[in-house]
Amino acid sequence: MSVPRFIALIPAAGVGERMGTSMPKQYAQLAGRPMLQHVMETFSSSSLISHTFVVVSANDAYISDLPELPRTTILKCGGAARQDSVTNGLLAIGSQTEDDDWILVHDAARPGLTHDLLDKLIAFVKDDAVGGLLALPMVDTIKRSDGHGRSEMTVERSALWSAQTPQMFRYAQLLQALQQAQQVTDEASAIEAMGHRPKLVEGSARNFKVTLPQDLLLAELIFKDQGMS
Ligand code: CTP
Ligand code: MG
Repeated sequence: MSVPRFIALIPAAGVGERMGTSMPKQYAQLAGRPMLQHVMETFSSSSLISHTFVVVSANDAYISDLPELPRTTILKCGGAARQDSVTNGLLAIGSQTEDDDWILVHDAARPGLTHDLLDKLIAFVKDDAVGGLLALPMVDTIKRSDGHGRSEMTVERSALWSAQTPQMFRYAQLLQALQQAQQVTDEASAIEAMGHRPKLVEGSARNFKVTLPQDLLLAELIFKDQGMS
């Protein structure tokens, strides 16, 4: 049996509705380059990642403006939801992938990922039977809303984590999980639905997901201070 490889899959087929701009947020300029380019460069320049696949929508008008990178392939097979984009990407790379290769799925909207975080995730998960993800333990006191703008109760925080990416699972198991799962917003949810428990590996605040317009400013600040971790 061959040694499992580490393959990156970057879903980048969203429209960025909450960002409110006409151009999808993954192409927003950040420290002089499109956000997606930062993410692609992080994976392309990692010695642990054997290949990077980027999933964009079939009618993407911007990806061709990005420079080509070593060991990086664009797949124009995005779907209606993130789950569909990842599933379509996995199906598209099936002939180039072994069942037990590790697939690292990473949001195009998390430009703050560093080699240190990527290396940490791989080190903590590569010998795991299930797989795992970067995540952050909750630090704030958590409130449950009554649905009318009032706090109904305080939720016990000690067991709560907020999920980040990359999320790292074996190719065949991930594909099966995503094909079986109903509307999940991350890979770990699909794996959990199969009865498995993905490993939680502590990430960093700098790996947050750029979602709202004000998040771009925060991402700029993080890029200006590369010392932050
Ligand atoms: N994504 C995707 N295919 C979709 C929807 C999302 O590949 N049909 C990708 C996004 O491009 C992003 C990641 O999944 O890299 C996380 O999604 P999110 O932050 O929700 O991005 P958008 O869906 O683009 O934003 P919004 O939900 O505000 O529209
Ligand atoms: Mg979305």
